[in-house]
Amino acid sequence: MIIALDGPAASGKGTIARRLAAHFRLPHLDTGLLYRAVGAKALAEHVNFEDVAALERLAGALDPAALDPESLKAGAIGEAASRVAALPGVRAKLLTVQQDFAHQPGGAVLDGRDIGTVIAPQAEVKIFVTATPEARAARRHAELVGRGEAVTFEQVLADIAKRDERDSGRASAPLLRADDAEILDNTHLGVEESWQAALAIVARRQGLG
Ligand code: DC
Repeated sequence: MIIALDGPAASGKGTIARRLAAHFRLPHLDTGLLYRAVGAKALAEHVNFEDVAALERLAGALDPAALDPESLKAGAIGEAASRVAALPGVRAKLLTVQQDFAHQPGGAVLDGRDIGTVIAPQAEVKIFVTATPEARAARRHAELVGRGEAVTFEQVLADIAKRDERDSGRASAPLLRADDAEILDNTHLGVEESWQAALAIVARRQGLG
C-alpha cells in the first residue's frame, strides 16, 4: 500500500505521515527534506540562486541516506527549499529516489507537494492535508519559537503566504490536489482529531480497494 500525503507548508501532513507509517509499519519519506537539503547546501556553499546549473548539480549529488531532519527545519532553509523546488531540473534529479522509495515491496508513506500527482499517481491512498494560512502560521510560529527562533506571528504568516504562492504557482509540479485525493482540512481539528480523520480516510480507501 502506498499512502500519499500532499498539502501546503505547516498543514500537519508530516505528523500524520509519521504516525500512519508507524501504525501500518511502513517506511516513511518526508520529501520536503530532499528540497531542504539542496537549499541548505546552496546556502552553505553560497551558491547564487539564479545559478540553475549549480543548483541542479547539488541536487544530483544529494545523498538521501544522509539527511538530518533536525538541522533542516530552520525557517531560512524552508524558504531556500521552496526556491530550488521551483526548478524543473532540480525536481528531475530528485524524481527517481522518490519513485523508488514509493515502489519498494510492501509499500510506503510519502508526504510532500506532488506525491499523489507526480511521484505516485497510482497510490492506493491519497490525502490532501490543508488548513487556513492563519491556522498553519500559528502552528509553525509555536514550533519555531519552541526551537528558539526569534520570529513574530506576522513574519511567519507572511512567509507561509509567500511559500503557498510559490509552491502553488510554479509551472513544474505545483502543489495541487489530485482528483482522487480526499481533503483533510484540520483548521478546526486538534492533533488527535486530525489523526482519527486520516485513519478514517485510509479505512475508507482500503474498503474501496
Ligand atoms: O514540506 P516542507 O516545508 O519541508 O517543504 C519544503 C519546500 O520543498 C516546500 O516549500 C516546497 C518544496 N517541496 C516540493 O516542491 N515538493 C515536494 N514533494 C516536497 C517539498
